[in-house]
Amino acid sequence: MIKRLFYSLMPVRLQKTTRRCLLFMRLVRQSLYDIRRYVSSSVVYPIDDPVQLEAKITACSHVIEKGFTMPCTKETFGKQNVDILLAALQRYKSKGYSLENTQYRSAVTALKQYFEFHKGKNVDLSEIEKFLCSDNHHGQPAHSCFLKKTKDEIIQAAGQDFQTHAMNRYSIRNFDSTPVDIEILKDAVRIAQKSPSCCNRQCARVYIVETREKISAILDIQNGNRGFGDTIDKLLIIAANLSVFEGHKERNQAFIDGGMFAMSLLYALHYYGLGACALNWCVTKTEDVKLRKAINIQESHTILMMIGVGNLPEKVKLCRSQRKHYEDLISLR
Ligand SMILES: Cc1cc2nc3c(=O)[nH]c(=O)nc-3n(C[C@H](O)[C@H](O)[C@H](O)COP(=O)(O)O)c2cc1C
Repeated sequence: MIKRLFYSLMPVRLQKTTRRCLLFMRLVRQSLYDIRRYVSSSVVYPIDDPVQLEAKITACSHVIEKGFTMPCTKETFGKQNVDILLAALQRYKSKGYSLENTQYRSAVTALKQYFEFHKGKNVDLSEIEKFLCSDNHHGQPAHSCFLKKTKDEIIQAAGQDFQTHAMNRYSIRNFDSTPVDIEILKDAVRIAQKSPSCCNRQCARVYIVETREKISAILDIQNGNRGFGDTIDKLLIIAANLSVFEGHKERNQAFIDGGMFAMSLLYALHYYGLGACALNWCVTKTEDVKLRKAINIQESHTILMMIGVGNLPEKVKLCRSQRKHYEDLISLR
């Protein structure tokens, strides 16, 4: 009541400015809350708790499995990453965390495969060997860190019931050289558009990059396509239009709605028998601005991620990407 009276006494322009200032202050306050939570729990400042270490181990062993599934697996790939993995595994072990953990076990398997692959090659394997010898695990060995599938197997599973479809979707990092039909991509976007969105505001936007020059220029700034980026035929840039959101409470909604859309798009691409790999856009302002300029991205569009797309080769190697036990994700209240 007093607030309203106070406002009514102000000139209209001042009312507007005051409202804008208040909203800005609310946004800053809420964003500081986001930052504080991120800083205290993520690995901005590592505290080596089991979740942080498990994530580090998973990410490093993923680099090894990726190495095995590249179009050309390089000899001595990822040595620096292996050193980081070894250190994380040792820290995890020394803290007394469970050695039966799915991610720990599959990392050890990846390390073993790395060791076998490099035996007799010009790589110092002594630290890996020492670690593997100390691993006195007698349970079931984890599966190989990569799989081999044929194009037919993938396409056949993609057209079946949802469980078979979803359980057989893998990130593809090796594409055939035949061009992807743009109309199929458009149709996949049409299917993904059925994703729910907050108040049906449909913030998701897709930039389809077609030319080799532009794709290469973009992938040069993206950190995560080394070894297979040059086989990507079409690059989809998934963005969210911020103009559909309002107020301080919706500051993160673009990432939710856009993320849901992106997942549907991955399923739709899989449904159409295309190979696809999500690509992160975890960058600083400098890189973001560079990409915006390179392909003229609208100012109100926030870039969320990319998807590299191509036709499947006849035979393809896939990262297993071991999942945790699903029960570990659920908390009953
Ligand atoms: C947002 C996002 C960003 C990703 N970025 C990359 C990337 O930069 N490079 C890459 O090779 N894979 C990337 N991936 C793929 C993940 O590594 C992959 O989804 C994960 O290992 C699970 O494997 P799957 O997709 O085969 O089930 C990304 C996935 C997501 C969802």
